[in-house]
Amino acid sequence: MKRREFFNWVGLGLLASSLPIAIAACSTDTTTTASSPSQAATPKWQKIGTVAELDKTGQLLVPDSPVGAVLVVGTSKAAKNLVAVNPTCTHKGCTVAWKTDKNQFVCPCHDAEFAREGKVQKGPAEKPLKTYLAKIENDSVFVKST
Ligand code: FES
Repeated sequence: MKRREFFNWVGLGLLASSLPIAIAACSTDTTTTASSPSQAATPKWQKIGTVAELDKTGQLLVPDSPVGAVLVVGTSKAAKNLVAVNPTCTHKGCTVAWKTDKNQFVCPCHDAEFAREGKVQKGPAEKPLKTYLAKIENDSVFVKST
């Protein structure tokens, strides 16, 4: 075997052996990996305020809580009846207000009305308010995504 033939043979061998690796490196991986345990975990209770803040007016509005904007309605005296919603109106995004006398959330922008559990009672909004679970524990108010 001549020297030139030898190098051609070795070069071709290297190319052939590295081709699958090169193809694998260039291909796009569209498969998704399994979520990490923290991403797949069920939502956790998040502290959003104190019982004193809630009991002051029977409402606790926290625009930037760990779960996002949240409005909790109720008092510690009737903790089983706590209601928590995302107060962002599903029509155009105004912040709804709780009306105790009407027992519903009312949007100040276009007068949409939502029931205590977030259901639309009067348009123009068509989708319900997002709701959260709410509880009181150790003088703190907690919410959790449903
Ligand atoms: S933004 Fe609430 S009814 Fe239009």
